Amino acid sequence: LFAGQTDFLKGVVAMSGLPPDDRLEVCFAGRSNVGKSSLINALTGRKGLARASNTPGRTQEINYFTTTDGPYLVDLPGYGYANAPLPVVEKWQKLLKSYLSGRATLRRAFVLIDARHGVKDVDEEIMTLLDRSAVTFQAVLTKTDKVKAKDRDRVLKQVREKLSKHPAAYPELVLTSSEKGDGIATLRAIIASLD
Ligand code: GTP
Ligand code: MG
Repeated sequence: LFAGQTDFLKGVVAMSGLPPDDRLEVCFAGRSNVGKSSLINALTGRKGLARASNTPGRTQEINYFTTTDGPYLVDLPGYGYANAPLPVVEKWQKLLKSYLSGRATLRRAFVLIDARHGVKDVDEEIMTLLDRSAVTFQAVLTKTDKVKAKDRDRVLKQVREKLSKHPAAYPELVLTSSEKGDGIATLRAIIASLD
């Protein structure tokens, strides 16, 4: 899946712009700045493929990436605080919700959670939306390189507790660092095993 060519396909600003649903897809959702675009870069081994930056609200479209004979990788705009004008943010938040509740070929949503902060109310909101839409989601802890083992364990406990209340949550979570490469092979294998 990730060995051959992974490429940017298109950026989508409205549901009508989604590519034909001729294959499965997985998406990366999470609060602004949690590390969605960086994770796609780590997974594909292509640093500049998805644009990442320190400015929350960097990704403002639904960005599609192709894998070799595998699912689309879908980079989503973040939710929560964003450094962009309110009307713009509201527009992409609406699109994000439509996408998460209305894409038939969406096989799994990865919900990224910052390993330092755990699950926040806005995450819960998205998880509830996914429950209602019956989209299986899996939590991925990001930026584990930034957290001490002790703090990480406390966050892990909180995340597991929160997940247990969501029927659409896949019980197993993945710990990653796009910076160090931890968990990336595991996540690749999970994506490759979906059918
Ligand atoms: P939006 O598109 O704004 O919603 O953000 P995003 O979730 O796509 O986050 P992005 O990948 O742009 O990363 C945000 C910042 O976090 C960047 O400065 C990244 O370099 C940094 N970052 C992402 N992943 C990691 C990680 O695993 N470790 C560390 N230390 N920094 C990371
Ligand atoms: Mg992004």
